[in-house]
Amino acid sequence: MSISSSSLNQLSKTERTERNRKLYDGWAPVYDIDGNALPLVDDVIFNERVVPLMQAQSADRAIRVLDIGCGTGRNTAKLPALLSQGFAGDSAIYAVDVSEGMMKEAKRKLEGGLVEVNVRLLDFHTQAEELAQFVGDPVDIVISTLVLGHVELDAFFATVGRHLKRDGWAWVTTMHPSIGEITGAGYRRANGLKVGGVTVNYETDEIVDAAKKSGLEVEGDIVEAGVGSDEAEAVANYGERARKWAGYKIFSGIRFIKSAIL
Ligand SMILES: C[S@@+](CC[C@H](N)C(=O)[O-])C[C@H]1O[C@@H](n2cnc3c(N)ncnc32)[C@H](O)[C@@H]1O
Repeated sequence: MSISSSSLNQLSKTERTERNRKLYDGWAPVYDIDGNALPLVDDVIFNERVVPLMQAQSADRAIRVLDIGCGTGRNTAKLPALLSQGFAGDSAIYAVDVSEGMMKEAKRKLEGGLVEVNVRLLDFHTQAEELAQFVGDPVDIVISTLVLGHVELDAFFATVGRHLKRDGWAWVTTMHPSIGEITGAGYRRANGLKVGGVTVNYETDEIVDAAKKSGLEVEGDIVEAGVGSDEAEAVANYGERARKWAGYKIFSGIRFIKSAIL
């Protein structure tokens, strides 16, 4: 289960991040293969929404991309193939995460790709200057998938706003707020024990308002998606663990454009 943003006051950013870091260090070896339906839906929507845009944009120029909270590199690993090989030398991908366990998986996955991915272990909440030095010049695109529920909204969007070029865009996805009452990020250890971290159930309005403060405007529709309403179809498409999510919206994805220099 996740907590609402109003009940979060007692937990400092550092405490929250520390609990989540521990969660993801433990989850990392099985994160990509444990049949969680949310990343699988995230994959489908990434292919629909992000892939065509990036391919079109990179056709005639170099692109710089930052992935915040890259985890095991599940989405980061898709990026090199989306950048034009003609401009590979000037294109750049940066990926950061606070969990050593997740980062270890990411490094393994990202080695030897078409475009080098620069990875760095850091907490963007508390290591803003280190992140700025690591990334350097502003980027064309930020992606941050399934991270939002673990972070402080204003700090997150300030980071996105700081690193995006004017007219650059960000793809941000999260667990749909309508299921925050009944679930939160977590996994089951081999011994059956359930392990959770701190997931905040941000309402969509809160997310959009926080983004605006950093000069980021919603572009296009807000994507709300799930595994479909039919249980058998959900299982056929997304695996057994998707059964309980039939009929629910479980995913929310928003593209933001940096329209203003504040
Ligand atoms: C659910 S995972 C998503 C990973 C990946 N983006 C994906 O979609 O598969 C959330 C990730 O956010 C990272 N994270 C949480 N708080 C962070 C922070 N303050 N700074 C950097 N990474 C953070 C976690 O370590 C974890 O790897």
